[in-house]
Amino acid sequence: MDLTSDYLGLELKSPIVVSSTPLSKSVDNLMRMEAAGAGAVILPSLFEEQLTLDAAALEQDLARGSESYAESLSYLPSQDTYHYTQAAYVAHLQAAKRNVSIPVIASLNGASPGGWTYFAKELQAAGADALELNTYSLATDPTIPSSEVEQGLIDLVAQIKRSVTIPVAVKLSPQFTTIPHLARQLETAGADALVLFNRFYQPDFDIDKLEVVPRIVFSSREELLLRLHWVAILFGNTSCDLAITGGVHTAEDVLKCIMAGAQVAMMTSALHLRGIPWIADVQSDLIRWMEEHEYSSIRQMRGSLSRRSVPDTSPFDRGNYIKTLSSYTLRPGVPHS
Ligand SMILES: Cc1cc2nc3c(=O)[nH]c(=O)nc-3n(C[C@H](O)[C@H](O)[C@H](O)COP(=O)(O)O)c2cc1C
Repeated sequence: MDLTSDYLGLELKSPIVVSSTPLSKSVDNLMRMEAAGAGAVILPSLFEEQLTLDAAALEQDLARGSESYAESLSYLPSQDTYHYTQAAYVAHLQAAKRNVSIPVIASLNGASPGGWTYFAKELQAAGADALELNTYSLATDPTIPSSEVEQGLIDLVAQIKRSVTIPVAVKLSPQFTTIPHLARQLETAGADALVLFNRFYQPDFDIDKLEVVPRIVFSSREELLLRLHWVAILFGNTSCDLAITGGVHTAEDVLKCIMAGAQVAMMTSALHLRGIPWIADVQSDLIRWMEEHEYSSIRQMRGSLSRRSVPDTSPFDRGNYIKTLSSYTLRPGVPHS
Protein backbone atom coordinates (compact mmCIF):
# COMPACT_ATOMS: atom_id res chain seq x y z
CA MET A 1 0.00 0.00 0.00
CA ASP A 2 1.42 3.35 -1.00
CA LEU A 3 0.71 5.76 1.85
CA THR A 4 3.19 8.37 0.70
CA SER A 5 2.07 11.95 0.31
CA ASP A 6 3.87 15.06 -0.92
CA TYR A 7 3.64 17.95 1.49
CA LEU A 8 5.72 21.11 1.45
CA GLY A 9 8.03 19.61 -1.12
CA LEU A 10 8.78 16.69 1.19
CA GLU A 11 7.80 13.11 0.47
CA LEU A 12 6.07 11.87 3.62
CA LYS A 13 5.78 8.14 4.23
CA SER A 14 2.29 8.68 5.63
CA PRO A 15 -0.35 11.42 5.39
CA ILE A 16 -0.76 11.35 9.18
CA VAL A 17 1.13 14.26 10.69
CA VAL A 18 1.37 15.23 14.35
CA SER A 19 0.36 18.88 14.65
CA SER A 20 1.90 21.26 17.13
CA THR A 21 1.45 19.86 20.64
CA PRO A 22 3.29 19.89 23.96
CA LEU A 23 3.69 16.13 23.48
CA SER A 24 6.44 17.01 21.02
CA LYS A 25 8.50 18.76 23.66
CA SER A 26 10.04 15.38 24.42
CA VAL A 27 12.48 13.82 21.96
CA ASP A 28 11.40 10.39 23.23
CA ASN A 29 7.85 11.22 22.22
CA LEU A 30 9.02 12.35 18.80
CA MET A 31 10.74 8.99 18.39
CA ARG A 32 7.52 7.22 19.46
CA MET A 33 5.57 9.25 16.90
CA GLU A 34 7.97 8.19 14.18
CA ALA A 35 7.85 4.55 15.31
CA ALA A 36 4.04 4.64 15.29
CA GLY A 37 4.12 5.77 11.67
CA ALA A 38 3.72 9.57 11.67
CA GLY A 39 4.72 11.11 8.34
CA ALA A 40 6.08 14.28 9.96
CA VAL A 41 5.95 16.19 13.22
CA ILE A 42 5.37 19.83 13.97
CA LEU A 43 7.07 21.16 17.06
CA PRO A 44 5.24 23.29 19.64
CA SER A 45 5.16 26.97 18.75
CA LEU A 46 7.47 29.74 19.69
CA PHE A 47 5.37 32.89 20.15
CA GLU A 48 5.78 36.31 18.59
CA GLU A 49 5.24 37.87 22.02
CA GLN A 50 8.10 35.90 23.40
CA LEU A 51 10.46 36.70 20.58
CA THR A 52 9.53 40.38 20.67
CA LEU A 53 9.95 40.50 24.42
CA ASP A 54 13.22 38.63 24.19
CA ALA A 55 14.65 41.24 21.85
CA ALA A 56 13.18 44.29 23.64
CA ALA A 57 13.95 43.05 27.12
CA LEU A 58 17.46 42.09 26.20
CA GLU A 59 18.04 45.62 24.98
CA GLN A 60 16.52 47.13 28.12
CA ASP A 61 18.37 44.85 30.45
CA LEU A 62 21.63 45.64 28.76
CA ALA A 63 20.87 49.35 29.06
CA ARG A 64 19.79 49.44 32.68
CA GLY A 65 20.88 46.17 34.19
CA SER A 66 17.25 45.55 35.19
CA GLU A 67 15.27 42.38 35.48
CA SER A 68 12.45 43.51 33.23
CA TYR A 69 12.89 40.46 31.06
CA ALA A 70 11.72 38.05 33.69
CA GLU A 71 8.83 40.31 34.70
CA SER A 72 7.59 40.93 31.21
CA LEU A 73 7.51 37.24 30.49
CA SER A 74 5.22 36.58 33.42
CA TYR A 75 2.08 36.33 31.30
CA LEU A 76 3.59 33.64 29.09
CA PRO A 77 3.42 30.09 30.40
CA SER A 78 6.40 29.06 32.49
CA GLN A 79 9.29 27.32 30.86
CA ASP A 80 8.59 23.93 32.39
CA THR A 81 5.06 23.97 31.00
CA TYR A 82 5.21 25.58 27.60
CA HIS A 83 7.50 28.55 27.26
CA TYR A 84 10.80 27.97 25.53
CA THR A 85 13.71 30.28 25.35
CA GLN A 86 15.00 30.71 21.84
CA ALA A 87 18.13 28.75 22.67
CA ALA A 88 16.10 25.91 24.16
CA TYR A 89 13.91 25.81 21.07
CA VAL A 90 16.87 25.59 18.75
CA ALA A 91 18.47 22.91 20.94
CA HIS A 92 15.23 20.89 20.90
CA LEU A 93 14.90 21.22 17.14
CA GLN A 94 18.49 20.04 16.69
CA ALA A 95 17.94 17.10 19.04
CA ALA A 96 14.78 16.21 17.16
CA LYS A 97 16.67 16.24 13.87
CA ARG A 98 19.37 14.01 15.30
CA ASN A 99 16.90 11.45 16.62
CA VAL A 100 14.17 11.10 14.01
CA SER A 101 14.38 10.75 10.27
CA ILE A 102 10.89 11.99 9.43
CA PRO A 103 10.61 15.70 8.59
CA VAL A 104 10.58 18.04 11.58
CA ILE A 105 8.59 21.21 11.04
CA ALA A 106 9.24 24.13 13.37
CA SER A 107 6.37 26.37 14.40
CA LEU A 108 6.22 30.12 14.86
CA ASN A 109 3.08 31.62 16.31
CA GLY A 110 2.41 35.26 15.54
CA ALA A 111 0.07 37.58 13.76
CA SER A 112 1.86 40.73 12.69
CA PRO A 113 4.96 41.52 10.66
CA GLY A 114 7.88 42.68 12.74
CA GLY A 115 11.41 42.12 13.91
CA TRP A 116 10.49 38.84 15.61
CA THR A 117 10.38 37.07 12.25
CA TYR A 118 14.18 37.07 12.14
CA PHE A 119 13.89 33.88 14.13
CA ALA A 120 12.56 32.00 11.08
CA LYS A 121 16.08 32.16 9.67
CA GLU A 122 17.54 30.66 12.82
CA LEU A 123 15.07 27.79 12.67
CA GLN A 124 16.14 27.11 9.11
CA ALA A 125 19.80 27.23 10.14
CA ALA A 126 19.04 24.80 12.99
CA GLY A 127 17.78 22.25 10.47
CA ALA A 128 13.99 22.66 10.30
CA ASP A 129 12.67 20.92 7.20
CA ALA A 130 9.89 23.48 6.94
CA LEU A 131 8.18 26.13 8.97
CA GLU A 132 4.58 26.34 10.09
CA LEU A 133 3.37 29.83 10.83
CA ASN A 134 0.39 29.87 13.17
CA THR A 135 -1.43 33.14 12.64
CA TYR A 136 -3.83 32.90 15.58
CA SER A 137 -5.22 36.32 16.41
CA LEU A 138 -8.47 37.91 17.48
CA ALA A 139 -9.79 41.03 15.78
CA THR A 140 -11.16 42.84 18.82
CA ASP A 141 -10.43 46.44 17.78
CA PRO A 142 -13.54 48.01 16.20
CA THR A 143 -11.43 50.57 14.32
CA ILE A 144 -9.53 47.95 12.30
CA PRO A 145 -11.31 46.71 9.15
CA SER A 146 -11.01 43.12 7.95
CA SER A 147 -8.98 44.24 4.92
CA GLU A 148 -6.29 45.53 7.28
CA VAL A 149 -6.26 42.29 9.25
CA GLU A 150 -5.84 40.31 6.05
CA GLN A 151 -3.15 42.63 4.71
CA GLY A 152 -1.20 42.26 7.95
CA LEU A 153 -1.30 38.50 7.52
CA ILE A 154 -0.21 38.66 3.89
CA ASP A 155 2.65 41.03 4.77
CA LEU A 156 3.73 38.70 7.54
CA VAL A 157 3.85 35.70 5.22
CA ALA A 158 5.77 37.70 2.60
CA GLN A 159 8.24 38.86 5.23
CA ILE A 160 8.88 35.33 6.49
CA LYS A 161 9.20 33.99 2.97
CA ARG A 162 11.84 36.59 2.17
CA SER A 163 13.94 35.43 5.10
CA VAL A 164 13.96 31.67 4.49
CA THR A 165 14.30 29.20 1.65
CA ILE A 166 12.58 26.28 3.40
CA PRO A 167 8.85 25.85 2.68
CA VAL A 168 6.37 27.76 4.81
CA ALA A 169 2.89 26.56 5.78
CA VAL A 170 0.33 29.03 7.09
CA LYS A 171 -2.08 27.86 9.77
CA LEU A 172 -5.26 29.89 9.43
CA SER A 173 -8.30 30.75 11.44
CA PRO A 174 -11.68 29.96 9.85
CA GLN A 175 -12.91 33.47 10.60
CA PHE A 176 -12.21 35.24 7.36
CA THR A 177 -14.88 36.61 5.08
CA THR A 178 -13.55 35.21 1.82
CA ILE A 179 -11.28 32.25 2.40
CA PRO A 180 -10.66 31.41 -1.30
CA HIS A 181 -9.57 35.00 -2.02
CA LEU A 182 -7.33 35.10 1.03
CA ALA A 183 -5.84 31.76 -0.06
CA ARG A 184 -4.95 33.29 -3.44
CA GLN A 185 -3.29 36.25 -1.79
CA LEU A 186 -1.31 34.06 0.59
CA GLU A 187 -0.24 31.96 -2.37
CA THR A 188 0.99 35.13 -4.11
CA ALA A 189 2.82 36.12 -0.92
CA GLY A 190 4.65 32.80 -1.16
CA ALA A 191 2.80 30.43 1.19
CA ASP A 192 3.62 26.85 0.27
CA ALA A 193 0.76 25.30 2.22
CA LEU A 194 -2.38 26.29 4.05
CA VAL A 195 -3.32 24.51 7.26
CA LEU A 196 -7.06 24.64 7.98
CA PHE A 197 -7.98 25.57 10.72
CA ASN A 198 -6.83 26.85 14.07
CA ARG A 199 -9.28 26.04 16.86
CA PHE A 200 -10.43 28.98 18.91
CA TYR A 201 -9.92 28.42 22.58
CA GLN A 202 -12.93 30.24 23.90
CA PRO A 203 -12.99 31.11 27.57
CA ASP A 204 -15.95 29.99 29.66
CA PHE A 205 -17.90 32.08 32.18
CA ASP A 206 -17.95 31.15 35.85
CA ILE A 207 -21.30 32.71 36.80
CA ASP A 208 -20.85 32.17 40.54
CA LYS A 209 -17.42 33.78 40.77
CA LEU A 210 -18.22 36.28 38.00
CA GLU A 211 -15.03 35.35 36.23
CA VAL A 212 -14.02 34.56 32.68
CA VAL A 213 -11.94 31.42 32.79
CA PRO A 214 -9.64 29.95 30.17
CA ARG A 215 -10.64 26.48 29.07
CA ILE A 216 -9.00 23.96 26.82
CA VAL A 217 -11.23 21.25 25.45
CA PHE A 218 -9.96 18.59 23.11
CA SER A 219 -11.59 18.47 19.71
CA SER A 220 -14.43 16.24 18.64
CA ARG A 221 -14.87 14.62 15.23
CA GLU A 222 -17.72 17.02 14.38
CA GLU A 223 -15.15 19.81 14.08
CA LEU A 224 -13.71 18.10 11.04
CA LEU A 225 -16.70 19.03 8.86
CA LEU A 226 -15.82 22.73 8.68
CA ARG A 227 -12.30 21.82 7.56
CA LEU A 228 -13.49 19.30 4.98
CA HIS A 229 -15.86 21.86 3.55
CA TRP A 230 -13.21 24.51 2.97
CA VAL A 231 -10.48 22.19 1.78
CA ALA A 232 -12.94 20.67 -0.69
CA ILE A 233 -13.66 24.20 -1.97
CA LEU A 234 -9.99 25.23 -2.13
CA PHE A 235 -8.79 22.05 -3.85
CA GLY A 236 -7.90 22.90 -7.44
CA ASN A 237 -8.21 26.63 -6.73
CA THR A 238 -4.83 27.15 -5.16
CA SER A 239 -1.34 25.92 -5.83
CA CYS A 240 -0.70 25.77 -2.08
CA ASP A 241 -0.64 22.35 -0.48
CA LEU A 242 -3.55 21.77 1.86
CA ALA A 243 -3.51 20.32 5.35
CA ILE A 244 -6.31 19.71 7.80
CA THR A 245 -6.01 20.15 11.54
CA GLY A 246 -8.99 19.97 13.87
CA GLY A 247 -11.19 16.97 14.52
CA VAL A 248 -9.06 14.22 12.96
CA HIS A 249 -9.39 11.23 15.28
CA THR A 250 -9.81 8.07 13.15
CA ALA A 251 -8.78 6.47 9.85
CA GLU A 252 -12.16 7.45 8.44
CA ASP A 253 -11.33 11.08 9.28
CA VAL A 254 -7.95 10.80 7.54
CA LEU A 255 -9.62 9.34 4.45
CA LYS A 256 -12.15 12.19 4.40
CA CYS A 257 -9.32 14.76 4.59
CA ILE A 258 -7.56 13.19 1.62
CA MET A 259 -10.77 12.89 -0.38
CA ALA A 260 -11.56 16.56 0.32
CA GLY A 261 -8.16 17.40 -1.19
CA ALA A 262 -5.71 17.60 1.70
CA GLN A 263 -2.18 16.24 1.38
CA VAL A 264 -2.03 15.53 5.09
CA ALA A 265 -4.31 15.03 8.08
CA MET A 266 -2.98 16.27 11.38
CA MET A 267 -3.68 14.96 14.85
CA THR A 268 -3.25 16.37 18.35
CA SER A 269 -6.35 15.81 20.51
CA ALA A 270 -6.60 12.15 19.52
CA LEU A 271 -3.04 11.57 20.74
CA HIS A 272 -3.66 13.40 24.02
CA LEU A 273 -6.76 11.25 24.57
CA ARG A 274 -5.50 7.87 23.36
CA GLY A 275 -1.72 8.06 23.41
CA ILE A 276 0.93 8.22 20.72
CA PRO A 277 0.57 4.53 19.65
CA TRP A 278 -2.90 5.48 18.37
CA ILE A 279 -1.16 6.67 15.18
CA ALA A 280 -0.30 3.05 14.38
CA ASP A 281 -3.91 1.94 14.94
CA VAL A 282 -5.20 4.66 12.65
CA GLN A 283 -2.62 3.69 10.05
CA SER A 284 -3.64 0.00 10.16
CA ASP A 285 -7.31 0.92 9.83
CA LEU A 286 -6.40 3.18 6.93
CA ILE A 287 -4.59 0.39 5.10
CA ARG A 288 -7.40 -2.10 5.80
CA TRP A 289 -10.02 0.27 4.43
CA MET A 290 -7.95 1.01 1.34
CA GLU A 291 -7.42 -2.69 0.67
CA GLU A 292 -11.11 -3.47 1.09
CA HIS A 293 -12.01 -0.66 -1.30
CA GLU A 294 -9.26 -1.51 -3.79
CA TYR A 295 -7.25 1.66 -3.53
CA SER A 296 -3.51 1.33 -3.91
CA SER A 297 -2.31 4.81 -2.99
CA ILE A 298 -3.21 7.94 -1.09
CA ARG A 299 -2.55 10.09 -4.14
CA GLN A 300 -5.21 8.18 -6.07
CA MET A 301 -7.90 9.30 -3.61
CA ARG A 302 -6.89 12.90 -3.22
CA GLY A 303 -9.61 15.39 -4.00
CA SER A 304 -12.13 12.74 -5.10
CA LEU A 305 -14.82 14.43 -2.99
CA SER A 306 -13.67 17.98 -3.61
CA ARG A 307 -16.03 20.58 -5.01
CA ARG A 308 -14.35 20.16 -8.39
CA SER A 309 -14.84 16.42 -8.50
CA VAL A 310 -18.43 15.86 -7.45
CA PRO A 311 -21.20 16.18 -10.06
CA ASP A 312 -23.48 18.06 -7.64
CA THR A 313 -21.72 21.00 -6.02
CA SER A 314 -24.81 22.15 -4.09
CA PRO A 315 -23.70 20.46 -0.84
CA PHE A 316 -20.88 23.01 -0.71
CA ASP A 317 -23.04 26.02 -1.50
CA ARG A 318 -26.11 27.91 -0.42
CA GLY A 319 -28.38 25.42 -2.22
CA ASN A 320 -27.59 22.80 0.36
CA TYR A 321 -28.16 25.21 3.19
CA ILE A 322 -31.70 25.82 2.01
CA LYS A 323 -32.29 22.11 1.34
CA THR A 324 -30.93 21.11 4.77
CA LEU A 325 -33.04 23.59 6.66
CA SER A 326 -36.23 22.89 4.75
CA SER A 327 -35.88 19.09 4.98
CA TYR A 328 -35.71 19.10 8.77
CA THR A 329 -38.57 17.30 10.44
CA LEU A 330 -39.53 17.89 14.05
CA ARG A 331 -38.54 15.14 16.44
CA PRO A 332 -41.39 12.87 17.41
CA GLY A 333 -42.16 12.73 21.12
CA VAL A 334 -40.78 16.21 21.89
CA PRO A 335 -43.46 18.62 23.19
CA HIS A 336 -43.07 21.34 20.56
CA SER A 337 -46.42 22.93 21.17
C1 LIG B 1 -2.52 21.45 24.59
C2 LIG B 1 -2.41 21.97 23.18
C3 LIG B 1 -1.37 22.81 22.84
C4 LIG B 1 -1.28 23.31 21.53
N1 LIG B 1 -0.23 24.12 21.19
C5 LIG B 1 -0.16 24.59 19.91
C6 LIG B 1 0.93 25.42 19.51
O1 LIG B 1 1.84 25.74 20.29
N2 LIG B 1 0.96 25.85 18.23
C7 LIG B 1 0.01 25.54 17.33
O2 LIG B 1 0.10 25.93 16.16
N3 LIG B 1 -1.04 24.75 17.68
C8 LIG B 1 -1.14 24.28 18.93
N4 LIG B 1 -2.20 23.49 19.28
C9 LIG B 1 -3.23 23.21 18.28
C10 LIG B 1 -3.01 21.86 17.61
O3 LIG B 1 -1.79 21.82 16.91
C11 LIG B 1 -4.15 21.53 16.64
O4 LIG B 1 -4.13 22.41 15.54
C12 LIG B 1 -5.53 21.61 17.28
O5 LIG B 1 -5.53 20.98 18.53
C13 LIG B 1 -6.59 20.94 16.39
O6 LIG B 1 -6.26 19.61 16.11
P1 LIG B 1 -6.91 18.37 16.91
O7 LIG B 1 -8.37 18.38 16.68
O8 LIG B 1 -6.24 17.18 16.30
O9 LIG B 1 -6.57 18.56 18.33
C14 LIG B 1 -2.28 22.97 20.58
C15 LIG B 1 -3.32 22.11 20.96
C16 LIG B 1 -3.40 21.61 22.23
C17 LIG B 1 -4.53 20.70 22.57
